[in-house]
Amino acid sequence: MSMVIVGVVLFGLVLVIHHWWRNRNAIVTNWPMLGMLPTVLYNIPRLHDFITEIMKKSGGTFELKCPLFSSMNFIITCDPSNLQHIATTKFSNYPKGEEFREVFDVLGDGILNVDSHLWKLQRKMFQLWTQRHAKFDSFVAMTLYRKVVDDLVPFLNHATETKIQVDLQETLQKMITFDNAILFIFGLDLASYSFKSSKSDYQKAFNEGQEAVILRHVIPKSYWKLLRWLDIGTERKLRIARETFDEFIYQCISLKRDQMSHNQSQNNNNAHHDGEANLGLLTIYMEEKEKPYSDKFLRDVAYSFLAAARDTLTAGLCWFFWLVATRPDIETKILEEMKEKLVGNYDNLDHNKREELMSKLVYLQATIYETFRLYPSVPFNHKTPTKADVFPSGHHVKPKQMVLTSVYSTGRMEEVWGKDCLDFKPERWISEQGEFVYVPPHKFAAFHIGARTCLGKDMALIQMKIMALTILKNYHFHIVEGHLVCPTLMVTMNMKYGLKLRVSKRSF
Ligand code: HEM
Repeated sequence: MSMVIVGVVLFGLVLVIHHWWRNRNAIVTNWPMLGMLPTVLYNIPRLHDFITEIMKKSGGTFELKCPLFSSMNFIITCDPSNLQHIATTKFSNYPKGEEFREVFDVLGDGILNVDSHLWKLQRKMFQLWTQRHAKFDSFVAMTLYRKVVDDLVPFLNHATETKIQVDLQETLQKMITFDNAILFIFGLDLASYSFKSSKSDYQKAFNEGQEAVILRHVIPKSYWKLLRWLDIGTERKLRIARETFDEFIYQCISLKRDQMSHNQSQNNNNAHHDGEANLGLLTIYMEEKEKPYSDKFLRDVAYSFLAAARDTLTAGLCWFFWLVATRPDIETKILEEMKEKLVGNYDNLDHNKREELMSKLVYLQATIYETFRLYPSVPFNHKTPTKADVFPSGHHVKPKQMVLTSVYSTGRMEEVWGKDCLDFKPERWISEQGEFVYVPPHKFAAFHIGARTCLGKDMALIQMKIMALTILKNYHFHIVEGHLVCPTLMVTMNMKYGLKLRVSKRSF
């Protein structure tokens, strides 16, 4: 009997070695029954770089064969002509799709999760609202500036004096980006209101919800659905996180409603006023009287905007400060440009003047774009074709086959960015005349391209500049020795172990 077992094991081993030998030159080994899954699972901790290696070897597009009987069947591309094709030329054939909706059910009917009329409605509402508050970007930027001055600066001063270690990612999430997103969505300054639980409990619930959703990508659908039905494991964690966070959003909706009706009773005869009650994207939805939107829909709108605005900005800032801290030559150039172009007392300027000055900081802008080229906050995008199609690269796509575009890889392709594509080099964004170089969005898709381009791009860039200026002028960051900086496997490319640093003062 034992001889039979040994024989079977040896036979299996010979088959595996034989298969491996025949496939040794393949880009990814395609195992019988298991497809390419073993190699993908083995490389999960370095997924973005693994995908980039595949992209380089395959010329920019590759089909990942998944296990037999599995519905997972991906085509991954980072080829700019394919990106353009998917997001613009054949936009209607590439919706987000039902699969995405199911995995991200926490987003409900929010803009990040829907196609067709609900998506169009939310983009239209955003445009209506920005037309009404043409200066809202400036308002958000100014409020961010105040938050930095009132909260972050004292915290960093304290860190300088006590020499404590700071996790910049956690600090930004706690002090800046969450509050700022809530201000933009609801027009509510969180510091002025109290809630059933603490702000940090709600933020924790938001983070936990995002992590649990990501796990749905790597475990089979039937398995996570079973966990959900039994209300155990990661699905239980997701349900609790969702309920906790919803409690927070519904309180914000109710506060906003009270604020608006109080404001209306005081201004009955004055339809156009610019009080605090009129601020926040949700007001434009809440003003609808004939067919009022349900609280559940308002919650979905708010959740998507929060998901779109908070971590993308935190991630962008962390990669920016890490890159600058590790490249003193670039830090020096940013500071020299600031000294040359920011004349007078920058801190006491009114916001319009500050924004005008910021637009002259070409090197700073180039450094921010270069950060997003190598570390895009949203590294992947996901679409599901409704009909069969052929990419400009010649690859055939089947209906319902998952299409992943890797913006992370596009930024690292020699064919797109040249031989020095892996070098962090802000100079590539500046022309010989010293002007900022325009790169078409399908080559630089950090803010996505086509009809679903990011709605917060301008706002985010102003916020990044304000943070960069205010911090770099006053502080120098020293990354803690041995601290490992690597990306998380989340929708947004945050840092897996945070950004641990010490702070020292700088005299500008
Ligand atoms: C550094 C900051 C940011 C980056 C890198 C970024 C990037 C992106 C990307 C790549 C997408 C496409 C996502 C997808 O289709 O799944 C997107 C969509 C979106 N972004 Fe941003 N974003 C940033 C900040 C913001 C901010 C501050 C807002 C707030 C208004 C915002 C609002 C949105 C919205 C509403 C969408 C959905 C657009 C649609 O589907 O039509 N983003 N963003």
